[in-house]
Amino acid sequence: KMNKIKKKLNESKIVKKLKNLSKLIHKHNVLYHNKDKPIISDREYDQLVKENQKLEKEYPHLVLKDSPNQKIGAATSKKFLKSIHKMPMLSLANAFEKKDVEDFIVRIKKFLNFDREKINFVCEPKIDGLSINLYYINGKLSKASTRGDGKIGEEVTENIKTIEEIPINLFGTKFPEEIEIRGEIFLTKKDFLLINEKLHSKNKFSNPRNAAAGSIRQLDTNVAKSRPLKFIAHGLGVSSKQFEKLNEIYEQFNKWKIPINKLIETAGTLEEMMDYYYKISQKRSNIEYDIDGIVFKLNNIFLQNRLGFVGKNPRWAVALKFSAEKTTTL
Ligand code: IVH
Repeated sequence: KMNKIKKKLNESKIVKKLKNLSKLIHKHNVLYHNKDKPIISDREYDQLVKENQKLEKEYPHLVLKDSPNQKIGAATSKKFLKSIHKMPMLSLANAFEKKDVEDFIVRIKKFLNFDREKINFVCEPKIDGLSINLYYINGKLSKASTRGDGKIGEEVTENIKTIEEIPINLFGTKFPEEIEIRGEIFLTKKDFLLINEKLHSKNKFSNPRNAAAGSIRQLDTNVAKSRPLKFIAHGLGVSSKQFEKLNEIYEQFNKWKIPINKLIETAGTLEEMMDYYYKISQKRSNIEYDIDGIVFKLNNIFLQNRLGFVGKNPRWAVALKFSAEKTTTL
């Protein structure tokens, strides 16, 4: 009986902790996603999420109905029209060390029942920007929306159309009936500093990501127009054209004059993946935009589809985060 009482007491402590964490994570989600004004670092935020995940794993029967683990980002704000994504915009599972990447590969092989078969991965920087979905109908940009909570985003088409790098009409002649091109909107570190210089101290942005998000998530298109926003594509949503490989998709984007990352490489082994990670982390301060890790994605789209998702994360991709380092903050 004593044990039962002790257990109950402990559990009520855990529930209290989970509730606290949920409240905190929600608060920081709103500050980050809705207000574009975070007050803690990404790392501190990741730690809160990790702590929450750990408790949920240990006490699955105590998981809250509205656990922050079940949601992506934060709800949308009221300023913009809502836009329901035809295909959810998911997020990446994090890895923090080589062992996590190894586990990721082992999990994939196990899931696919692969023993000797070779698989390869596309390696690319994880850009610290604002996730965007570009919906093209017959080669013409018809709608652009933010990720929002992953299911419903905000329609920011007019602001996106001010970005020179994003073609309103795809280049070339043959286009799929419909295609969603997904990628990251960002500002270079240099442009971020230039923008901030001109802003009143109380309006200054805390980092390039917030400056990019703040430029897109406001109604006056002149603001977006005045900011040298950039775009790099990193994936597909719905598409009436089928592709076999991710690097084929990127080649096609390139032909359409959709910007892709120049640093993309493919790797066939864990060692090659880690070599890429170290190479880019050494270059990090020379890259003109903020990155916070490396994304590894299975190249084969058919296998990606077989793997599918778990919760809000695809099984076929992972983000290996860089260890704590200075980013461009004030
Ligand atoms: S792939 C299914 N590739 O990171 C997920 N995402 O947590 C597909 N991001 O919101 C995303 N750089 O906006 C991918 N090279 C990259 C990325 C990238 C930044 C953002 C993305 C997403 C978040 C994932």
